[in-house]
Amino acid sequence: MEPQIPPSEPAPAHPPLEALAVQPLVNRDYESRPALFYERLRAEYGPVAPVDVLGVPAWLVIGYPQTLDILRDARGVWSRRLDSWRARREGRVPADWPLLPVYGLDFSVFRDGADLSRLRGAWSEGLRPFQDRSRPQAKQLEQAVRRYADELITVLSEGGGRTGWADLSAQYARPLPLMVMGRLLGADSARGDELIMDLWRVLDAGPDAAEASARLMAEVTQVCAAKAAEPGEDLPSFMLAAVPDLTVDELAREMVLLTGLIGDFTGTLVGNTIAEVVIGETGARDSLSAGMIQEAVNRAAISSPPMANLSFRWPKVDVRIGRFQIAAGDPVMLSPAAAHLDPAFTEGAAADSIYSSRAHLAWGAGPHACLGRDLATTITVIAVERLFDRFGGLRLALPADQLPWRSSPMMRGLRSLPVHYELAGEPPPPAGSPDAEPAAGQGADEPESRSLVRRILRAVRLAQS
Ligand code: HEM
Repeated sequence: MEPQIPPSEPAPAHPPLEALAVQPLVNRDYESRPALFYERLRAEYGPVAPVDVLGVPAWLVIGYPQTLDILRDARGVWSRRLDSWRARREGRVPADWPLLPVYGLDFSVFRDGADLSRLRGAWSEGLRPFQDRSRPQAKQLEQAVRRYADELITVLSEGGGRTGWADLSAQYARPLPLMVMGRLLGADSARGDELIMDLWRVLDAGPDAAEASARLMAEVTQVCAAKAAEPGEDLPSFMLAAVPDLTVDELAREMVLLTGLIGDFTGTLVGNTIAEVVIGETGARDSLSAGMIQEAVNRAAISSPPMANLSFRWPKVDVRIGRFQIAAGDPVMLSPAAAHLDPAFTEGAAADSIYSSRAHLAWGAGPHACLGRDLATTITVIAVERLFDRFGGLRLALPADQLPWRSSPMMRGLRSLPVHYELAGEPPPPAGSPDAEPAAGQGADEPESRSLVRRILRAVRLAQS
């Protein structure tokens, strides 16, 4: 496999990227029928296509071997530093490009070399107690996720009969990881609530998103400063213990990254997995019926990767991919979503295989590969397991092709997932009634977690109204 042709070959003659990228990435087909969109690009351009990303020209890599090769970066050709972007150095990136605030945050995603290794070292050591299932923190976190999932299900179904209607995206899949995030950060409950609600406002990109984003940064910085002064049993404290010269500002930027990774991408994987199971077209339902929840999650990660396209990388030298010459400093977006549709990936799998491929790219690969994969998978598996345990029947309340997707160049997730449900057991009594007992198996702190559920769901309703 040699997807990037050595520069000794004559460079193909074509106009520069700026003159080629007329095709907008975010369009109606990209949102509602992405497979059709990517296949059209593949037929027209091959493994890499020039596209327009919200007003900025970029190369979209859609071939599987090419994406994997760039992710692995065996020859050290690729940079993630923002100053590698030629058009930006030349002042040609609009100051109001919507993704610029995130690119400007200078967290691990946009670092190379020793700078990157230092931050990744802090991440892997900081996450270890939560991802190594033999450690007490991991066990407590799993119990908490289970409890939050049960609380959310109780609250969304209380006061009704055995059957009802719910939005499993806004009322379950998205709030659940937000609650986990508050716990990982070790924020006290008042500050944790504020943080969660501001994150929701940022993710929803509503009218108050800019103010919420500034507040979120300030709140996260305060939490990190408090952890530096008085460490606890939480992710920022463990990261500081692993890399003691990490500054509060550096740590806060990584924790803002965490809010997106947990709050947005993990919620999206939960929602996408539930949708795949309920729709039943991709084998995820069969996996779940066979008791293989992890396999259902893997199938959803292949057919609906939450990080559909990855933020830019830039080659340090000219690189040839397919029929195009990518100039040094051109922005390149890798597309796991499109790579998963490439025959070079799909034809490797036997159609009737019980297990789907683990060679997919939903978690990235190489020097920037995901470090929170086990945690995100655990949260998703518990969320799916609790949901299908508590509900005997779930049916889409809309035809599958009318489900509303959130448009973003990077993320693919549902705006809402409306379902008709039937509970497996007795419905919970109305809130506040004398019969409103905690569900079995819950710990002593569950009244607090249930009231957190209510406060979050109220914030979600307010943000949506
Ligand atoms: C379903 C949820 C998630 C998905 C789909 C996901 C996927 C990914 C992908 C594709 C990358 C590589 C990005 C690139 O190469 O451009 C990545 C990087 C990363 N992820 Fe995740 N992730 C998820 C959740 C999490 C969680 C919960 C954490 C931490 C608690 C986490 C921590 C990281 C870190 C630290 C990086 C590396 C950043 C870097 O070195 O550039 N991820 N993730």
